Amino acid sequence: MLKKIKCADLEIGMYINLGESWMRHSFFRPAFKITSVKQIKKIAAAGFRSVMVDPDRSDPAVRSKLGEGQPVNGDSQDLPMIEVPDENEFDPMEQISDELVAAIEDPAIPPEKKAEIVYSHSIRMMDNILQEPSPENILKGKTMIYATVDHILADDETADHLSQITSHDYYTYTHSVNVGLLSVLLAKEAFKNIEGHDMQELGAGFFLHDLGKCDVPASLINKPDKLSPQEWELMRNHPSKGKRLLKEARQLSEECALIVMQHHEREDGTGYPLGLHRNEIHDYGRICSIADVYDALTSTRAYKKKLPPFQALQVMKDEMFHHFNRDLFGIFVSIFS
Ligand SMILES: [Fe+2]
Ligand SMILES: [Fe+2]
Repeated sequence: MLKKIKCADLEIGMYINLGESWMRHSFFRPAFKITSVKQIKKIAAAGFRSVMVDPDRSDPAVRSKLGEGQPVNGDSQDLPMIEVPDENEFDPMEQISDELVAAIEDPAIPPEKKAEIVYSHSIRMMDNILQEPSPENILKGKTMIYATVDHILADDETADHLSQITSHDYYTYTHSVNVGLLSVLLAKEAFKNIEGHDMQELGAGFFLHDLGKCDVPASLINKPDKLSPQEWELMRNHPSKGKRLLKEARQLSEECALIVMQHHEREDGTGYPLGLHRNEIHDYGRICSIADVYDALTSTRAYKKKLPPFQALQVMKDEMFHHFNRDLFGIFVSIFS
């Protein structure tokens, strides 16, 4: 029988089942055995106060402690239990990639469903990369981004649906996917009929623009108070760190370098890290900065509520217009109309 256990009492070796809410929190599967403290922290950070634990599938060492948990009521016992292979038997990135490509290529799946699959698989991919930004994961991630970009370029209907379905929790992995998808949609519009842009590589830069935030804790990203000088330094360095990680993975294309380094630059010179002005900022960096700010405004943060899309665009126009390239901002607005 499943037991309900408070997150604070979770231990390595317990076999948990997150039920239907697992999709929203990007764990790779709904039921699994906890193998690290990191997973416990992630469960708590995802907003779970308690979870279901299956004593029979948990390690004997922790099974006795589960006797103190509350038996679950009838409804909860019906939570789906999915048989999964052992943690070491498969590579999550390969599985995500296989599922993504299969869905994209399946003509029987309607565009709306395809958009959902592209989105949920992109979230899991980015979560994996940000948890472990190894050269191998970065390379596998790029391959998936290439497939996603190709599909967005080839299928207008799926692209339309993608502009509607963005999660509004502000985690670096959800933000990366939102900005990645919105930037690709903007680049698709801005560069249509224009040769010479490597859209796959642009997509990689957009999705990976905040790679350097991989070790910035969520508490700092969502901190409502003013950042201390050390915290600000950590934030300010994330473009350089992202560039370094891509270089070490031998994946630093020119497109990725421009996007990663320039997505916080502003037309009026108030951005960072270099305080570049207008024509010193490449269109690739400009595109990403527009999507980046839009996603920040439309996401819920610890210190503010999210704005609806129209209101966010209005704020960008009225209060931040001098930050963005006018032509690209106009095209961005047109995506939502
Ligand atoms: Fe950033
Ligand atoms: Fe960002």
